[in-house]
Amino acid sequence: MRLGVNIDHVATLRQARKTYEPDPVAAAIICDLAGADGIVCHLREDRRHINDEDLRRIREVVKSTLNLEMAASDEMVRIAVKTKPEIVTLVPEKREELTTEGGLDVASHKDHLRDIIFRLKSAGIKVSVFIDPDIEQIKQCAAIDADIVEIHTGHYANAKTTSETDEEFERIRHAAIYAEKSGLSVCAGHGLNYHNVKDITEIEEIEELNIGHSIISRAVLTGLEKAVRDMAELIR
Ligand code: PXP
Repeated sequence: MRLGVNIDHVATLRQARKTYEPDPVAAAIICDLAGADGIVCHLREDRRHINDEDLRRIREVVKSTLNLEMAASDEMVRIAVKTKPEIVTLVPEKREELTTEGGLDVASHKDHLRDIIFRLKSAGIKVSVFIDPDIEQIKQCAAIDADIVEIHTGHYANAKTTSETDEEFERIRHAAIYAEKSGLSVCAGHGLNYHNVKDITEIEEIEELNIGHSIISRAVLTGLEKAVRDMAELIR
């Protein structure tokens, strides 16, 4: 199973001070060197974390696979065609949300999405569509010629009880099996962490997991001791 690391949160930390550090481009290089199979970043309409210049520089340094998450808009298609990530993941986007809250409703935007996918694929970019674990959505993704579906694991990650977790897990498993049978490659992500990822890795149809918040959170804490030692040494 491949791992795509989402580095948006590095840019979120930088934007808290609107300064130059931490640099998401440096993070992309470290993730690549550490063995990530791909780097994921989301260029949002409001540029709240990753910005256009970050994306340009990230494209230059990523030697594995660059997966650009973006809304299905004309502006983003123009940027993707110019940047040429290996993969584009189409996600729904609402300005007021803290993070991507659910999958795309493919059926309601079928003609528009088919056109966007055609334009991206004509530029040599593979297209993934972020969807809830819902068989109808998967049928629609196959019908509009997507290459990949990324199954939203957020409801599984947020489930409060064991029975709810099991139910959400089964939805993901069924969706993954159906998607693979429909000829789609299968990825999954959102809300996965060091505790809940293991069961998901047992779903054989899933080829790749995209994980961001939990990895960056752990990096902050595992790196904190050295950061304090370095500063203490400097000022003493
Ligand atoms: N996949 C998609 C489509 C996403 O939008 C995100 C969040 O940016 C992720 C995966 C990663 O989610 P998390 O940061 O919760 O690991």
